[in-house]
Amino acid sequence: MQIKNICCIGAGYVGGPTMAVIALKCPHISVTVVDANPDKIKAWNGPLEQLPVYEPGLAEVVKEARGRNLFFSDDIPGNVEKAEMIFMAVNTPTKKEGEGAGMAADLRYVEACASDIAKYSKSDKIVIEKSTLPVRTAEKIKEILEENSTNIHFEILSNPEFLAEGTAVQDLFKSDRVLIGGDQTESGQKAVQSLVDIYANWIPKDKILTTNVWSSELAKLASNAMLAQRISSINSLSALCEKTGANIDELSKAIGMDHRIGPHFLKASVGFGGSCFQKDILNLVYLCKYYGLDEVADYWHQVVKINDYQKDRFAQKIINHFGGDLTGKTIAILGWAFKANTNDSRESAAIYVAEKLYKTGANLEIYDPKVLQDQIIKDIKFYWKEKSVKSNRISISSNIRFGNADTIAILTEWEEFKDLDFEKTTVFDGRNILKSPLYSI
Ligand code: NAD
Ligand code: UGA
Repeated sequence: MQIKNICCIGAGYVGGPTMAVIALKCPHISVTVVDANPDKIKAWNGPLEQLPVYEPGLAEVVKEARGRNLFFSDDIPGNVEKAEMIFMAVNTPTKKEGEGAGMAADLRYVEACASDIAKYSKSDKIVIEKSTLPVRTAEKIKEILEENSTNIHFEILSNPEFLAEGTAVQDLFKSDRVLIGGDQTESGQKAVQSLVDIYANWIPKDKILTTNVWSSELAKLASNAMLAQRISSINSLSALCEKTGANIDELSKAIGMDHRIGPHFLKASVGFGGSCFQKDILNLVYLCKYYGLDEVADYWHQVVKINDYQKDRFAQKIINHFGGDLTGKTIAILGWAFKANTNDSRESAAIYVAEKLYKTGANLEIYDPKVLQDQIIKDIKFYWKEKSVKSNRISISSNIRFGNADTIAILTEWEEFKDLDFEKTTVFDGRNILKSPLYSI
């Protein structure tokens, strides 16, 4: 079946860029991205320099496709009804309450999507899991779709997304692989083929991998777990380097030159952040426990524990430098995003390090080139559980400032922090944890 109309539910960091690229590469398909948040849709339809997602190259893609065959709309019923293929790209955060709280994925947004799809569909649909989901979620989605509709056939595919923020557009243009999981039935395989045909417009066929649904769902969680595991492995070794005089960068290089290991994801850091690694590993841990695999659960849990240890260790280094009390000290926090080239700050290591410094008495001067001031305030209230941001102890600047600071903590690898002249200020560099403090007053 040749698809002419796609609807994507969820206009976030995945839905926005992935659909923009599909629309760009497939001018014969009409792609509409819908979202429950009308402000987000308004922003996607607004000026290119203020799109809700900052990604290098994204504005150019949106400029070319928007209004041609790429649309952003808050009309969920109309666009669901019209589409032959529907992507679900809604958030799947860690559950906050109920069974599995703090570990399992909260599937309420995906379930709401499935209910909406069932409610507004008047013809057969291919429904695609784009969100990252626990293995066997397709079963639950099928149940919701079938219970809430009559005489409509829904084919469910898993097509997890592997883009990384900051390089999303490049990752989508040249994916290492596109993974599509479908049922082994005739209708399942037909649905798989129609999705393969879409990606084949720009992805070489040998990079499009088709599997059963459960392998595809689990491969996404496992990929993130393996990537995060490499970071925690190298970060754990950074602690040993500091005790022994070995150099973590030299260690990474030596390890990564083995072609069986490879050089990527071996950069020691202040800890990984982002909305996905931690939540996906916790979800994996929960699944293992659910199936009675306690040893496997403990193994993966350790990846998150080392990450927490690393963030804490970095903050503690700064505290120790000042003899354990930061009262009256001003610390410039350079970088709030969880990595460079994104405006996303979810689970950023900066948030945790800054919290510990603040709660040990420090005054903070925060600067990030892309995370807006409002977002930083929201993060402080949400993650630190602070009711208000005390302006006499925290200042957020839209320009880089560190002249008055007693010390500087670099917490995101923004290019603009690379060649700064810090003169004689002490610098704790999240990009170079071993060598922190770099300069002493
Ligand atoms: P996001 O929070 O940026 O976007 C999700 C959007 O879905 C929000 O705009 C929200 O308003 C909307 N939404 C939620 N429920 C809805 C509903 N019922 N109807 C309509 N809209 C609804 O999330 P994201 O970062 O794009 O992540 C989405 C999924 O993709 C997650 O499962 C995540 O794990 C996965 N993923 C994310 C990345 C990434 O880099 N961010 C990469 C790969 C996979
Ligand atoms: C990650 C994966 O790389 C994507 O493949 C996946 O699709 C995505 O999660 C997801 O499922 O959300 P992302 O979190 O956007 O992408 O960015 P990464 O480049 O993986 O970086 C994650 C964190 O790890 C950042 O805080 C980064 O600074 C840190 N990191 C990365 C290191 O500390 N060391 C490294 O060597 C690499």
